[in-house]
Amino acid sequence: MASSPLYLLFLLLLYSLLPFSNSHPHRFKFTTSDLLASKPNNSFSPTTFFEVTRPISLPKTQSCSQLLLQHDFGLTYQKPPVTTYYTPPSCLTQTPSRIVLEWHATCQGRQFDRIFGVWLGGVELLRSCTAEPRPNGIVWTVRKDVTKYTSLFYEDSTFAVYLGNLVDSTYTGVYHVNVSVHFYFDQRNQYRKNRQHQIPAFSSPADLVLPISRSLPLNDGLWFLIKSSTDVLSKEISIPPNTYRAVVEVYVSFHSNDEFWYTNPPNDYISKNNITGLPGNGAFREVTVRLDGHVVGAVWPFTVIYTGGVNPLLWRPITGIGSFNLPTYDIEITPFLGMLLDGKSHKFGFGVTDALDVWYVDANLHLWLDQKSSMTKGTLIKYEAPEYAPSLVSKFRGLDGKFKIEADRIISSAGWVESSYGKITSYFSQELQFKNLMRFRDNGNAQWVNQTIQSTSNTYAKDSYTVIYTEELQQYFPLYLYTGTTDKIGDTYSLVSELSLGFDRKQVIGEKGGLGFRFGSLTNLQTAQGNMKVKGNLVTSGVGSTQQVYKYEGTDGCYFRNVSSRNYTILYDKSEDSCTKMGRWGVDSRSSYDKGD
Ligand SMILES: *[C@@H]1O[C@H](CO)[C@@H](O)[C@H](O)[C@H]1NC(C)=O
Ligand SMILES: *[C@@H]1O[C@H](CO)[C@@H](O)[C@H](O)[C@H]1NC(C)=O
Ligand SMILES: *[C@@H]1O[C@H](CO)[C@@H](O)[C@H](O)[C@H]1NC(C)=O
Ligand SMILES: *[C@@H]1O[C@H](CO)[C@@H](O)[C@H](O)[C@H]1NC(C)=O
Ligand SMILES: *[C@@H]1O[C@H](CO)[C@@H](O)[C@H](O)[C@H]1NC(C)=O
Ligand SMILES: *[C@@H]1O[C@H](CO)[C@@H](O)[C@H](O)[C@H]1NC(C)=O
Repeated sequence: MASSPLYLLFLLLLYSLLPFSNSHPHRFKFTTSDLLASKPNNSFSPTTFFEVTRPISLPKTQSCSQLLLQHDFGLTYQKPPVTTYYTPPSCLTQTPSRIVLEWHATCQGRQFDRIFGVWLGGVELLRSCTAEPRPNGIVWTVRKDVTKYTSLFYEDSTFAVYLGNLVDSTYTGVYHVNVSVHFYFDQRNQYRKNRQHQIPAFSSPADLVLPISRSLPLNDGLWFLIKSSTDVLSKEISIPPNTYRAVVEVYVSFHSNDEFWYTNPPNDYISKNNITGLPGNGAFREVTVRLDGHVVGAVWPFTVIYTGGVNPLLWRPITGIGSFNLPTYDIEITPFLGMLLDGKSHKFGFGVTDALDVWYVDANLHLWLDQKSSMTKGTLIKYEAPEYAPSLVSKFRGLDGKFKIEADRIISSAGWVESSYGKITSYFSQELQFKNLMRFRDNGNAQWVNQTIQSTSNTYAKDSYTVIYTEELQQYFPLYLYTGTTDKIGDTYSLVSELSLGFDRKQVIGEKGGLGFRFGSLTNLQTAQGNMKVKGNLVTSGVGSTQQVYKYEGTDGCYFRNVSSRNYTILYDKSEDSCTKMGRWGVDSRSSYDKGD
């Protein structure tokens, strides 16, 4: 997605030299004339694209809004990010209970899916991908709860958006974009209540959020570009001396040769078959978070598929899970505060195991400060990040074969911090499991990938007497992808694809004081089927169907949606937000938690 069309054409030339085209690259454009009238048809209104997600619950009280940026993204590739100057609106005399960032865009014509990032004062607020337009135009809106960045909105700073777009006679789409922020106020602001307790407020937004990103001026996004497994990119940061809690929130997206890293075969397969141009390095990737060189946390990322991925017809108008609002990953580094509270600057860095060109990675450092003292101190008690090696079983003859990669790892740390809240010991651990089964058949023309990523992270904190905070987050990312290529003549071929993509997340939090006990459980699964005829990198005809079931149940409410589309048309769309109609799962779960405590 960082690539210019010329670069992609170059890649396509390489790919066409392959004995099979497989499905690389999976990104295709329409020759829109075959799918729809090539000229705009006034009987059609623009198509609204959307990602299925739970609507943000908002207080039914007053709100105030500010337009942050209005811009038409035309020739913006490798140009400086578009910036505006942000000043807090006058309504910010009260503490907002909810802050929502809203991206609203329209586009018409033909265009690639473009990755973009949104930053305030260098802190990334949103990583996303554009929807691919049609001749009659498209429109889409992304709303993101950015309450966790509350402190940023009180400062004057630079607001920046980088969306690298290119426009020519083939790729005509200009993205017309408005970005706004909405502040909601609620007299019963629950975060504020925390402050009155004599224990730290784990659930309230951080007092300070520092960017771990590149600084302007740049002719690119503020993200770091990681292009190989040896790239470790970092930034020196010194933290306030009265910090008592710290969390690194990581933003990650993968592009070009690693856009479909989970389908990349091992290098052995590529070299033994004399394949050129097919990305390799196997199908396992890990993003490491490093503190002065030590790996303090890992991200085994969700396989976001952008709007042009696999078969672009699948994502019209229901887009891929996470593609409009990429997931972020939190690494608790409070146990390491002892090291960081020395008044000196420290290196916060990132690497990607087996990375191919290119990964966009940056992060935000969320810091909670002791309002009643100017100094805190701490010590690291324990830190373990044992070496591990993914196991690879590789069996192939010629272009047909099977590959199995498995990996698991554990990272854990413990440390104490002494502040006006007393001496609090905190623990953080991550357990990660990865499994990828890949199969090639029909002289490499058919590929199956079955992958699961499972991760559990645990955070807990206790003072001298009791546990004051526990949090368990379990994530499960299943993926199944089949691509089959047939009827290959010159640069034309047919591609059949079948996909199942899941994002499940379960979070249980116990907090003494503050917001108390809460949990949330999400199961979110997309299945999709498509076929298309491709000429060069243009889809000449085809069909795509997608079904999605999204189910969230939690102490903060419930949401269910069952929706499907085929060829731009919604076939059915049912949604429900009442917990009682969805069963009483929540109540049962709560009582079992209480018993176990
Ligand atoms: C979907 O659209 C394509 C291209 O216009 C067409 O060939 C196909 O018949 C359509 N399929 C359905 C089920 O409407
Ligand atoms: C425009 O769309 C309408 C509704 O589908 C269709 O009846 C009409 O033939 C189309 N006009 C052109 C010029 O394609
Ligand atoms: C952006 O906002 C302006 C002013 O409200 C409006 O005229 C314009 O149509 C909006 N553009 C988009 C893409 O929503
Ligand atoms: C790959 O190239 C080498 C050296 O040119 C050759 O010996 C070998 O047979 C080739 N392998 C295949 C599978 O084409
Ligand atoms: C791969 O996933 C598909 C679909 O979920 C399943 O039917 C199949 O059994 C899986 N194959 C393997 C080898 O796990
Ligand atoms: C979703 O709706 C379809 C069509 O009505 C139905 O067949 C399917 O069982 C539904 N799925 C769930 C989980 O409710």
